[in-house]
Amino acid sequence: MLEVNDLKKRLEIIKQQAFSNIDKVTELHHLQILKSQYLGKNSDINGILSSLDKFPHNFRIEIGQAVNKVKKEISEYIINKSNELEKKNINEQLKSSKIDLTLPGIDFTIGHVNPLLKTVTEISDIFKNLGYQIVSGNEVENEEYNFNRLNLPIDHPARDMQDTFYLENGSDKVNCWLLRTHATNMTARILSEQNKDSKVTTAIISLGNVYRKDDDDATHSHQFMQVDGFLVSPNITFANLKWTLNYFCQQFFGLETKTRLRPSYFPFTEPSVEVDVSCPKCNTEGCSLCKYTGWIEVLGAGMIHPNVFMAAGLDEAAAGFAFGVGIERITMIKYGIDDIRLFYNNDLRFLNQF
Ligand code: DAH
Repeated sequence: MLEVNDLKKRLEIIKQQAFSNIDKVTELHHLQILKSQYLGKNSDINGILSSLDKFPHNFRIEIGQAVNKVKKEISEYIINKSNELEKKNINEQLKSSKIDLTLPGIDFTIGHVNPLLKTVTEISDIFKNLGYQIVSGNEVENEEYNFNRLNLPIDHPARDMQDTFYLENGSDKVNCWLLRTHATNMTARILSEQNKDSKVTTAIISLGNVYRKDDDDATHSHQFMQVDGFLVSPNITFANLKWTLNYFCQQFFGLETKTRLRPSYFPFTEPSVEVDVSCPKCNTEGCSLCKYTGWIEVLGAGMIHPNVFMAAGLDEAAAGFAFGVGIERITMIKYGIDDIRLFYNNDLRFLNQF
């Protein structure tokens, strides 16, 4: 009959043999083979365990414990070897795949804001800071607000079929629908609709599309954008208008910008002016942008005509100023863009510059 010590010796021999075979392994899948060889169902160790029922109880306990201990040791030895091989594999992979961490990342394309939207946002911010309210307004308008209430008499050339997109037949009707030719329609509408209390201050900026029957070329478009503003308040004077226009031009074109007012004519303002800014490119030295004059015209403005107040049902002695700016025009001047069509073509080579 086998002695306990003999069996323990056999277990020790099996263990040493397993360890030395595991030591020699270089591939992970060979470890799996050794695992089933030493710990699997048909292993020598399992053979020892299954022969134990022939032996007395205390013998079984002692050998059983010794078998479990050896199984645990071999199993741990295999796990350690497996970890070691995995680590080695990863290191070899890293060495052979040659990752260059200094390479620049992969660039991806980001969208750009159309420069017109940039200008619209800037103008809105400038006037919001002055307490103005921003509206967009009706693009489909009728003659009443686009012309009549703005003191544009029935025979005014701007009402001509040649210049205006009429949605109904002819400009001879009193209340004909059309596409607004300027954003000044909102001045007539808001003044007409507002509280008639002349002590109330109203300060509005209206921004949006306007339409004219122009042939499209580098400086004309049948659809373009305008910002039109007005401020009505008791005791408002031309000096307030001058300050506001100066402030706007300096905020938009740069603090060094100078402004110059020239007398002009608009039916809805009296007196009326046109406003020039010092050329942002040459600062009045003279260059191709300002056609060597040093100055560029940017907007029209004036004190609201008493007829406009009366048409809106306000006191003719009410006081207020108004101004109108072409958004494409001032954007072209600010960024040196020489063709208005670039704004609408969605060419990424153009848009990516903003
Ligand atoms: N509505 C004019 C235009 O389209 C621009 C303009 C001039 C608007 C003077 C105004 C203003 O409000 O006061 O040419």
